[in-house]
Amino acid sequence: MGFGGFGLLLFVMSTMCLIKCSLEFDPVANYLLDCGSPRNTSVGDRVFVPDRFLSNPEQEPVSAPDSQTIPSAYGSSLYRTARILNRTSNFTFPINQHGRHFVRLHFFPFVPNTQTRNLSSSKFSVSAHGFTLLKDFEPDSTPTVKEYTLNVTSDELVITFTPSVNSFAFINALEVISHPDELIPVSTETVELPKTLHGLTARALQTVARINMGNRSVSPDDDTLWRSWNSDGPFIKQNNFVQFVSNLSAVNYTENGPSVDIAPIAVYGTLTKLDNELNPGAILNNTWSFNVDPGFSYFVRFHFCDIIHRPWELVFNVYLNSMSVKKDLNLDHETSNIQGAPYILDAITHVGGPGMINVSIGTSNLNGVPPESILNGVEIMKISDNKGNLDGTHSKTMSLTSRSKKKIWVIAVSAAGALFIIGVLGLLIFVLSRRNIKKASNVGLVEQYPDESTIFSKSKVGYRFPLHAIQEATDRFSESLVIGIGGFGKVYKGTLFDSTIVAVKRGAPQSHQGLAEFQTEIEMLSQFRHRHLVSLIGYCDERNEMIIIYEYMQNGTLKNHLYGSDLPKLSWRQRLEICIGSAKGLHYLHTSSAKAIIHRDVKSANILLDENFMAKVADFGLSKNGPELDQTHVSTAVKGSFGYLDPEYMTRQQLTEKSDVYSFGVVMFEVLCGRPVIDPSRPRGSVSLVEWVKELKGKGELEKIVEKIVDPYLVGKMKVESLKKFVEIGDKCLADEGVDRPTMGDVLWNLEYALQLEGVEMKNGQTVSESGKSQVENGVSSTMLSEGSMGDLDGVSMSRVFSEMVKGDKHDMR
Ligand SMILES: *[C@@H]1O[C@H](CO)[C@@H](O)[C@H](O)[C@H]1NC(C)=O
Repeated sequence: MGFGGFGLLLFVMSTMCLIKCSLEFDPVANYLLDCGSPRNTSVGDRVFVPDRFLSNPEQEPVSAPDSQTIPSAYGSSLYRTARILNRTSNFTFPINQHGRHFVRLHFFPFVPNTQTRNLSSSKFSVSAHGFTLLKDFEPDSTPTVKEYTLNVTSDELVITFTPSVNSFAFINALEVISHPDELIPVSTETVELPKTLHGLTARALQTVARINMGNRSVSPDDDTLWRSWNSDGPFIKQNNFVQFVSNLSAVNYTENGPSVDIAPIAVYGTLTKLDNELNPGAILNNTWSFNVDPGFSYFVRFHFCDIIHRPWELVFNVYLNSMSVKKDLNLDHETSNIQGAPYILDAITHVGGPGMINVSIGTSNLNGVPPESILNGVEIMKISDNKGNLDGTHSKTMSLTSRSKKKIWVIAVSAAGALFIIGVLGLLIFVLSRRNIKKASNVGLVEQYPDESTIFSKSKVGYRFPLHAIQEATDRFSESLVIGIGGFGKVYKGTLFDSTIVAVKRGAPQSHQGLAEFQTEIEMLSQFRHRHLVSLIGYCDERNEMIIIYEYMQNGTLKNHLYGSDLPKLSWRQRLEICIGSAKGLHYLHTSSAKAIIHRDVKSANILLDENFMAKVADFGLSKNGPELDQTHVSTAVKGSFGYLDPEYMTRQQLTEKSDVYSFGVVMFEVLCGRPVIDPSRPRGSVSLVEWVKELKGKGELEKIVEKIVDPYLVGKMKVESLKKFVEIGDKCLADEGVDRPTMGDVLWNLEYALQLEGVEMKNGQTVSESGKSQVENGVSSTMLSEGSMGDLDGVSMSRVFSEMVKGDKHDMR
C-alpha cells in the first residue's frame, strides 16, 4: 500500500444548495458532506449528502452505536457516522468562482459499533490549498468544528488528510462554502505600535472564537453563512460588571454599514453592556479572555450595534490585550446617528507569551460622556504564518491549548449554569458579609470584606460599611476634615483603606425626618447612575448613624465658586459647561425611567465639581418619584430651599419635573450674576435675584438688565449671542406656570447651543487657538448629538438646529 494519495472529483455540485438559498446570500459553491453516512442528513435547513464516492476499502465508513449520546450544539446527526482514512486521502472540490471559501471540518471521535478501533486514538494532519490546517491533530472527545477561510485561486480545492506514523485519520462531516470576499478585509492595522498594515488576501484564517455578546449563542441556522456563534458568558473575566440586553427589532442594517452577512440580527440584536445600575463609579473596563496559540497573529473583529434608545451620546474605549484599538469611539458619529445601525472595528495583534487575547471595552474619560460601554460580538481569527501554517509550529504548546479549548467548550455548554452559579455565589457573598457585619462589627474592614476587595472595590458599589471603618477613614470624624456643613449634618473628607478619597456625610442623629431622607438618598443613588450625578460609594447605619459615603468632588460646590469665597472665578465657558453637565444629570433623572424622578432641591450648593470642574448633581434626600402617567403632579408637603422654590409648587403643593426646571433657572441666574439668590445686603428691589430679574424683564429691558446684573468679572469676556441665549432660556425656566417652562431636555439643548455660540466667537478673534477651535467643534457635535438622539424634545427639530446654526454663523460674519 505504498502510495496512497488519490483524487476524487466530486460530482455533487452546487446542486447541493438544496433548500437554503437565502435572499441575502446564495453561495456559488456549497458542498456539504456527511462522511460515512449511507443517506442524506438534514441539519437545520441544510442537507448533507453521503461521501459514497470514497469506495476504497482503506477508507471505511463507520457509525457510532445508537446508544451513544452526542452533546453537540451543531446538530448531533452529523456525528453519528465517520469515514476512517487509513492512508493519505484527498477530497477535491471544483471551484467555479475564485475567492474566499469557508472550510469546516467536523470531528467527533466515537467507538464504532462494528469494531474495536477507537476514533480518539487517531492522529493526523490536514492541509488545503498550500496551507497546513492541522498538524498531528488528536481530536478532543467532544464534537469539534474547525473552521477556516481560504482564498481559493485555482479551479479546484484539494483538502488532504495525512495520518501520522502508525495512526489513522477520520472525518465526520465536511463543508466547503463560498462566502463574500468582503468578509475579510484586504488588510488591517496592527494594534502594536507603530501601527502597520497587515495584508490578508493571501492568508488563510482559522476561526478561534466567534462570540455573540448578550449571553446568547446563535446557531448556524440563524446565520446567513451558517456560522455558529458562542455565548460570551464563559469568557467574561471575573470582576466584570455586565448586563445582558436583547432587542432584535432595534437592529437597522444600513446601506453603508455592515450587512447581514457580516453578522446576523441575532448577533447585533443582543449585547453585553457595562452594568451602570449596579455600578456607580462605573469608570472601568469589561474584559473577555480567550486562550489562543502563541506565536501567531490574530485578526479580531468587534461588532457594535446600539440597540438601546438613549438620549445621550455613546462613547467608549476599545482595547486588545491592553493596547488601544480605538479611544473614545463615538458610535453615534460612526453610524451617522442612525439608531440601531451596526458598526464593525477590525484590528490585528501578534500573540506571544501566555497565549491570551483579552478584549476590553472601557468607559471613556471624556468630559460629559456618561459611563457606558457596549459590545455585541467579537470574532478572533488566527492568521496563517509566512510559511502557510495555521498549526504545528509550536507543538509543545499545542497540546496545552487544545486541552484548554476543550475546557472552554465544556464551559460553553453549561454557560447558563455557570452564570447561575456565579449569581448565587454573588448573592451568598453579599448575604454572608452583611451577616458578618451584624455579628461582629469589630472585625477589621479588610477581613470583613474579603470579597468586597476582590469583587466590588474597583467599582465602588453602594455598600454597607462598618462604623469603625468610617471612623478610621475620617480620623474619628476629625473637625479638621470637615469640608461642608448643611442642614443634614457635616460632610468630612475621608480616606478609605484602599486609599480612595471620599466624602462622608454624617447625619445628625435622632431626627426622624433625617432618617427618611437618608433612606431616600441611598435608594435614589443606588438606583441611578450617571456621569453627572454624584456617585454613592457606601453607607453606614450602624448604631443609628446615618452616614453616606460619596465619591469625593475635589472642587466642592458650584456655589463656593460663584460668591462668598476667595476661590478663583469661573470663566463663562466653564459656567456654561457646568450648567450643561448639571442639566444632563437632571435630564437623566427626569427621563431615564418610566417614572420621572424629581430632585426637589436643585441649588448651586447641590451641584458639585470634580477636579476637572465637571458638574455632578448631589443630594437626593428630598427626591421623589414623579407623577404616574394618569396624574400630572405629585401632591406633597412643601420642601426644598428658600429662594429656589417653584411658586406653583409653593401655592398648590403640586410637584412635577417642572419644579426642578424652575430651580435650575434660578441656578442659571446665580451663575450668570455671581450673587446669592437672596442677598439682604443689596438695595431694595434687588434683594431677591429672581424678583429683580422679573422686574427688569417686565420693564422690557432685558438687554439692559443684562448689563446691570451680570457678574462684573464676566463683563467683556462673553459673547452677546451666547449671553442672550442663556438669559432667554433661564427666563423661560422661571415662568410662573410649569406648563410654560421648557423641559430639562430643552434647557440642555439650548445651553449647548449657547456654548456653541461662545465657541464661534473665539474663532472670530484675532488669534485662532487650536484648542479654541477644537472646542468649537466639540460644541457643535455635542449639540447635534443630543438633538439627534433626543427624539422627545418639545418643538425642536433637526431643521431648527441647522437654521439656528446658520443664523449663528451669520451673526459672526458681521
Ligand atoms: C482599561 O484598560 C486599559 C488597557 O489595559 C487601561 O489602559 C485603562 O486604564 C483601563 N481603564 C480603567 C478605567 O480601568
